[in-house]
Amino acid sequence: MDSILVKGGQTLSGQIPISGAKNACLTLMPAALLTSEPLTLTNAPRLSDIRTMASLLESLGCEVASLQHRRVLAISAGADLNHIADYEIVRRMRASNLVLGPLLAREGRAVVSLPGGCAIGARPMDLHLMGLEALGAKLELKDGYVHGTANGGLKGGTVDFPIVSVGATENVLMAATLAKGTTVINNAAREPEIVDLARCLRAMGAQIEGEGTSTITVQGVESLHGATYQVVSDRIELGTYMLAPAIAGGSVELLGGRRELVASFADKLEQTGVTVEDTDAGLRVTRNGERLRAVDVRTEPFPGFPTDLQAQMMALLTLAEGTSALEETIFENRFMHAPELLRMGAKIDVHGGTAKVEGVERLTGAPVMATDLRASVSLILAGLAAEGETTVARVYHLDRGYERLEEKLGGCGARIERIKG
Ligand code: EPZ
Repeated sequence: MDSILVKGGQTLSGQIPISGAKNACLTLMPAALLTSEPLTLTNAPRLSDIRTMASLLESLGCEVASLQHRRVLAISAGADLNHIADYEIVRRMRASNLVLGPLLAREGRAVVSLPGGCAIGARPMDLHLMGLEALGAKLELKDGYVHGTANGGLKGGTVDFPIVSVGATENVLMAATLAKGTTVINNAAREPEIVDLARCLRAMGAQIEGEGTSTITVQGVESLHGATYQVVSDRIELGTYMLAPAIAGGSVELLGGRRELVASFADKLEQTGVTVEDTDAGLRVTRNGERLRAVDVRTEPFPGFPTDLQAQMMALLTLAEGTSALEETIFENRFMHAPELLRMGAKIDVHGGTAKVEGVERLTGAPVMATDLRASVSLILAGLAAEGETTVARVYHLDRGYERLEEKLGGCGARIERIKG
């Protein structure tokens, strides 16, 4: 298995291009199931999770053409679709459950494996099921699979989500586009990935209002058609690379970055003493030699501070003067980076959903590993600032969500390389 070696202590300078958003692309791809005409996605990131979704769609009978060098994915879900999403693929990636809504809407039936365990929390699917039932789907759990039917087609309904769920909002939004009548989704997620999905569906002929607010209204239509759509920039990749000059020192321009994608995160970053400026091409993050300051962080659904940047922010705060409290409210087991950061000299005390981080003067390199994507990249960030060498094992987690990470950071002066294993 490959690992990544980081030799710390280098300040950074240069530009990093931000790729298309993994989590937007992972919901736009299953939207292709809603029409027999091709959906072409541009600015698609080149990541292993995207390849997994492509394999899943192929197993359902779609043709997926990938012009990797041009970052284009063309997906055709012709007439002959299979409606069974097999455990062997679904267990590799939870976002596979996003085929459930589109299959029910287009085919009137779906059998989708439950994804099973996850490193960061239980992550059930009850809200997806609740939402689809409100649209008239009959759902049954059997043999580890969700068996769904919608005889006579889905019907518009009102969905009141008790908590905000990105995936459940996406599944219901896609299903509602082909349901008869009007669907109202209350307490909908407001993430930029939801806005991207709604815009893409609208380009395919759907009638949707209110995306980006807590109430989304969908007027069902008879059929959708093909479209070409550009995937939004990856706000989590953006936030991660904003933290690189913040922790290592220096100044980096994030090409394609927009402040509104990461506003609450950027505000917190500035409170630590880092400068964030808009430029013509994106955002520039600069840190002069001064010591960082501690801040408190609480993760929340968008527009709050994203859970997907909590691990990376913790890496930064290990070096800030004073004590920071990081409260994780979305997932119950998302502090697995903390014990690894301790091995690099950090002082962190985790109690339930809160981690208290007492800033230290310096971190030291160490061999480390993590069990999820964002935890792994937080260790790379810590390695950029640590004295000596840090080796991050289990790089396949990073390859799920960060494209050409070594190249992007190396291009700004970081001493980082992949060790083939
Ligand atoms: C999406 O996951 C993202 N994944 C996650 O990114 C992200 O952390 C998460 O949203 C929160 O922003 C993709 O978009 C592919 P949720 P999702 O449903 O949709 C609970 C990354 O690192 N819940 O908004 O699965 C759930 O357990 C990943 O890129 C239920 O209780 O997240 C959690 O506590 C990791 N029942 C909360 O809701 C349900 O049916 C929010 O989860 C569904 C969710």
